[in-house]
Amino acid sequence: MNKTKPPAKPGSILPPSVDQPTDAGRRKALLAGLGAAGGVAAVGLITPTRALADPANLPPNVADWSKVLGPGVDVAPYGMPSKFEKTVVRRYVDWLTATPESSINFTPLYALDGMVTPNGLCFERHHGGVAEVIPDDYRLMIHGMVERPLVFTYQDLKRFPPQSRFYFLECAANGGMEWRGAQLNGVQFTHGMVHCVQYTGVPLRTLLEEAGVKPKAKWLLVEGGDSAGMNRSLPLDKALDDCMVVYSMNGERLRAEQGYPIRLVVPGFEGNMWVKWLRRIEVGDGAWMAREETSKYTDLMPDGRARRFTWEMDAKSVITSPCPELPCKQKGPQVIKGIAWSGRGKIARVDVTVDGGRNWHQARLEDPVLPKCLTRFYLDGWSWDGNPAYLQSRAIDETGYVQPEMAALQAVRGVNSIYHNNAIQTWRINPTGEVENVRLA
Ligand code: MTE
Ligand code: CO
Repeated sequence: MNKTKPPAKPGSILPPSVDQPTDAGRRKALLAGLGAAGGVAAVGLITPTRALADPANLPPNVADWSKVLGPGVDVAPYGMPSKFEKTVVRRYVDWLTATPESSINFTPLYALDGMVTPNGLCFERHHGGVAEVIPDDYRLMIHGMVERPLVFTYQDLKRFPPQSRFYFLECAANGGMEWRGAQLNGVQFTHGMVHCVQYTGVPLRTLLEEAGVKPKAKWLLVEGGDSAGMNRSLPLDKALDDCMVVYSMNGERLRAEQGYPIRLVVPGFEGNMWVKWLRRIEVGDGAWMAREETSKYTDLMPDGRARRFTWEMDAKSVITSPCPELPCKQKGPQVIKGIAWSGRGKIARVDVTVDGGRNWHQARLEDPVLPKCLTRFYLDGWSWDGNPAYLQSRAIDETGYVQPEMAALQAVRGVNSIYHNNAIQTWRINPTGEVENVRLA
């Protein structure tokens, strides 16, 4: 489906483009007359932005901050971002849930660079509020079909040989409001139930080997110590593969809202399985059919049946700039920025279109490109001419899986789903430069 065209001639800064998806023809009428908005052209000179500024602080004058001694060390023993960045925070949508204790807030994806999410900006999803676990009173119990039932303290867990790994976590409900049409006007809200950090902890395999899993065991029940006591069944194969029991994120101890002192990491699987405030692991020979894998986190199909145990997160991507929060302030060169991820491994390629899918251009992937992580991509050579433009990105992972259009996803799954929406997102740039969440049909 994605036949790659020959790369642009050497020396050209045109990104090599790929063939348009097969169903793009039906959009031709809609997109006719867009003219040059679809073109990805050479990067021109970037004109400096004339922002509101106090002339007294501008060159050749000596700025105010250069004339005084600044605060000394230790004014903020735990540092915070610059006060000028105070709007960059997690946000929630109050009509989405009945209470803030069983709710969600969203990562401000538009304001972030690279592939790591700062700890204080990782979205939160709690079913019973944030548990305040006292580390000295914390215990992790492993029991069931094991040779030696064990209870670990927090200090015990830190004595095992540690490992550190980067992984993304995405809630299965990310984009759940967008199934039937474009709803929320902001990338923070349409895609912000994802974060990517470096975890440090112990491989779950190490703890299971310590307890000695009995030969007939096939599943684990993993349970949280919060008021929701959230629990899920986890296949033993996955537990022994790459799951981790972690105490740190991005080099410091877990934040309370991310499961302090201990959470489970289930790379590539839906966020719901990454149990926070982990208190109990029971080993058994069948799935427990818990609430979160029967009534919730199943996908209701058009024929009334439900897909269940849909753990792996399919490849997905989104443009984080421009986006509704970051309109185009001026015509001319614009770097299109975004993130892509796949629960099945590495991102192999991301294509970007500025004309709603007529022409696709291969984006530049920024290092590091790690398995089951956010991958940063850029399209460098686009110049916005002031006409409407329809921006989309399409991720392809190392298994060859191609992120689908919404119509293709709905053809298979219908419109009853809440979970696992990994459809291509469209942003429309209006002539004013404002950016809107739209659905091309
Ligand atoms: N673990 C417990 N104990 N309680 C919870 O409510 N929420 C789950 C999962 N683990 C939850 C939990 C869901 S639905 C998601 S998406 C992730 O945690 C969110 O992790 P985060 O809050 O660190 O982003
Ligand atoms: Co979730």
